[in-house]
Amino acid sequence: MSDELTGLCRLSELSDPGARAFSWGDGDWPLEFFVVRQGNSAFAYVNRCPHAGHELNWQPDRFLTSEGDLILCQSHGARFTIADGVCVLGPCPGARLTRLSLTERNGELFASAAELDALLGARSR
Ligand code: FES
Repeated sequence: MSDELTGLCRLSELSDPGARAFSWGDGDWPLEFFVVRQGNSAFAYVNRCPHAGHELNWQPDRFLTSEGDLILCQSHGARFTIADGVCVLGPCPGARLTRLSLTERNGELFASAAELDALLGARSR
């Protein structure tokens, strides 16, 4: 079975390090997620903190610490590794962000439409 991919952006469009928010699905409660660039790698996570379920960012596309080395939840200061999404500092040590698969083709980043649909559906149950 082939998995339909949905284009997000080019890796080169993101600052290094940097991040960008995306949403998936229509209606009032789309799935919010974000992509983080670190060097020539990119990682994607659902925009939901494992501590209290809040979105991580308070400003558009601001998901990183000022040093740019960790993902930051603005609510209570949890910090997560960029490559694994594991909380290394703050109120939920060891907890993980929900990671999404990313595919890169010729510098373009794609997410799995089936995976996004599954997460969107699971959340509304
Ligand atoms: S909701 Fe993210 S640190 Fe509390």
